[in-house]
Amino acid sequence: MKLHSILFLLTAILNVSDACLAIRYSKPPACVCKSLKLDSSNIKENEVKDNDLYDLVLSSEVKSPEILIDDCSVQVHCEDGSELYIFDTDKGAKIGDYSLDGFCDPYQKKWQVDTGNGMEQYKELKGVCVIKKTVTCSPADPATFLYAYSNDLDYIDMHRAYAVWADYGSGLSVSETKYATAATVRFDTKVKEDIVFHEGDTAYDSYIAAYSYLNETQVDPSKRFDSSETGSDILDVLERFIDTDRPNICGSVAFIFMKRSPNEIEISKIVEKIRAYHIMLSIAVKIPSSGGLHPETMYNLAAKTNGICSFSNFLWNAVMALPTILYSQTYYSANLKLSGTGSVNLPPMSLPAELSMYSVFGLQSTATAVSFQNMTLRWSDAQGVHGSLSKTREDMNSRTYHSMNTFKDLASTDEATQSTMRLEYDYSTEDTFLIRYYADKPTDQWSPYQD
Ligand SMILES: *[C@@H]1O[C@H](CO)[C@@H](O)[C@H](O)[C@H]1NC(C)=O
Ligand SMILES: *[C@@H]1O[C@H](CO)[C@@H](O)[C@H](O)[C@H]1NC(C)=O
Repeated sequence: MKLHSILFLLTAILNVSDACLAIRYSKPPACVCKSLKLDSSNIKENEVKDNDLYDLVLSSEVKSPEILIDDCSVQVHCEDGSELYIFDTDKGAKIGDYSLDGFCDPYQKKWQVDTGNGMEQYKELKGVCVIKKTVTCSPADPATFLYAYSNDLDYIDMHRAYAVWADYGSGLSVSETKYATAATVRFDTKVKEDIVFHEGDTAYDSYIAAYSYLNETQVDPSKRFDSSETGSDILDVLERFIDTDRPNICGSVAFIFMKRSPNEIEISKIVEKIRAYHIMLSIAVKIPSSGGLHPETMYNLAAKTNGICSFSNFLWNAVMALPTILYSQTYYSANLKLSGTGSVNLPPMSLPAELSMYSVFGLQSTATAVSFQNMTLRWSDAQGVHGSLSKTREDMNSRTYHSMNTFKDLASTDEATQSTMRLEYDYSTEDTFLIRYYADKPTDQWSPYQD
């Protein structure tokens, strides 16, 4: 913002001196440009036709901004917890958390404002603050389990994987999870499909209802994208899931079966949203990919949201290396950028008594990378119990619980423990190592996120 302010100040000075040279005014005319604070009392009468931003603002809770006019300059801003939008009679822009700077051009009687995408002219400057909805939920609150699957998969893989992940067969335990609602969606289709919610009396009923629905809808090859250059639309699906604004979205778990990669690399917006709603991502990717450019985007998304992303040429293998619905509460999570040979202390881990857990490790960000060579994790706790776990490249994808880049292991506690952990590693090129402990009971508080 500082840079912007300096830029428009400069522009302002140049404009005025230009005018002096060209027109020989002894003094420029007064700055009289129109501005207006919008709030719920006057937003309707200031309609901007056919404008999506206006429609969005109209359907939100709003209050008026601060508009500070000092001679020819203007600054508009909102209080914390709300975001600024500006409108003219025929257009608008979202300024967001920033404040808007601008100045009045006294000759044209129009504003020049800095919308963040360069200077724009506004005949009238109307500002409004949209109050941000803050979602809060605690780890034990009821939530939803989302099954999202690519229409590029074969149904046989998809349905088997679904059953494995949901601990099919352990029906009673599923009823005890907090994920009382199920939701299903098929993606990578030419026409986007709705997310369907299944609400039974118990989580188990919801889960069976979702399963029968999947058995009916399956996959439809005629609805696939025509080109392998088209990226997966999974990020849009996650955004739409959150935007349904239904109860029990916060704290949900999303299980995602993929075949096509996204084309996006820039994911900060969706990361922010997933973190705000504490959605846990468990992603299984069948390779080779049917299209799209960036498989690592899903791994990076999982890394930044305490999730995990597993690649295999058998979807079932990929799924087996992930936590199941019964073990989807994050007790410990760390991300490390590793390269070469070395060793590093991990942040200490505190665990309560009587937990059943999966420790889950992400070793490299794509299936095809050859970065990971080997690792040994050594731990010891305050009671003096110690142990270690070693993996090499050859171990991967060759046994149960091991996919091409991910593996999991069972762990448990009797008493509350505090452990220290040290990782020895060998990576031929830089990659991101993920370590997570997922357990069966809700945590007291959400695990912090890391980039
Ligand atoms: C879905 O289909 C599979 C395979 O045909 C079958 O085993 C399973 O019982 C079906 N599930 C439901 C809930 O209909
Ligand atoms: C780990 O990989 C490196 C490089 O391939 C190798 O030199 C080393 O012996 C390996 N260590 C173990 C324990 O396998």
